Amino acid sequence: ALAHDLAGRHVVVSAGGTREPLDPVRFLGNRSSGRQGFALAGTARARGARVTLVAANVALEPPAGVDVVHVESTAQLREAVRTAAKDADAVVMAAAVADFRPRATAAHKLKKRDDGVVEPIVLEANPDILAELAADRLRPGQVVVGFAAETGDASGDVLAHGRAKARRKGADLLAVNAVGEGLGFGTADNAVTVLDASGAVVATSAGSKEAVADALWDAVVPLL
Ligand code: C5P
Repeated sequence: ALAHDLAGRHVVVSAGGTREPLDPVRFLGNRSSGRQGFALAGTARARGARVTLVAANVALEPPAGVDVVHVESTAQLREAVRTAAKDADAVVMAAAVADFRPRATAAHKLKKRDDGVVEPIVLEANPDILAELAADRLRPGQVVVGFAAETGDASGDVLAHGRAKARRKGADLLAVNAVGEGLGFGTADNAVTVLDASGAVVATSAGSKEAVADALWDAVVPLL
């Protein structure tokens, strides 16, 4: 990593996992620790950037010198990211964003019914924040980056899923990581393949989440 190759830049990083409220005390959520996003924020700061870190439900100490916005739901994360992205040179969506949310949020705690009937939870789709950012480009020339955790299928082809997703989302870069074999969520180490919008491999990186973060910024810098 070059010393200050992000100096004068503003970067926005989302991290953690969104929670979708069911009622005042319950939510649908996921197990994202936020570590990869926090590593991206810390390494960008070390490389001279002004950093806005939009953190969803993360129990980690934020890196020094980073502006943190705390959010819970996907709607809140979307609002915070889009506000910060208006003057950002790059936006990296490292957060695990819920694809679905309960259609209704109860104003009071849901109760067990006396007749024993269990009400189904009806879901609706969340907006795809990454695809929107890629389509809208809230600042001209802004670099938009996503992450994709893929488990692969019977053929084990994680990259094929990543390639299809890269084309679908329209982001400039998509960092694809295999999950489910001790890699990814909640662990110290990560391994990613960075694809461009056409699905071509731009870089690969394996190691600490800081090393992976630096490799991703290495791929972002030439696009700025
Ligand atoms: O489609 P999938 O959830 O695998 O895509 C992952 C990427 O898309 C991540 O960068 C994530 O932050 C982003 N995403 C999003 N909004 C959603 C779902 C995912 O921005 N509703």
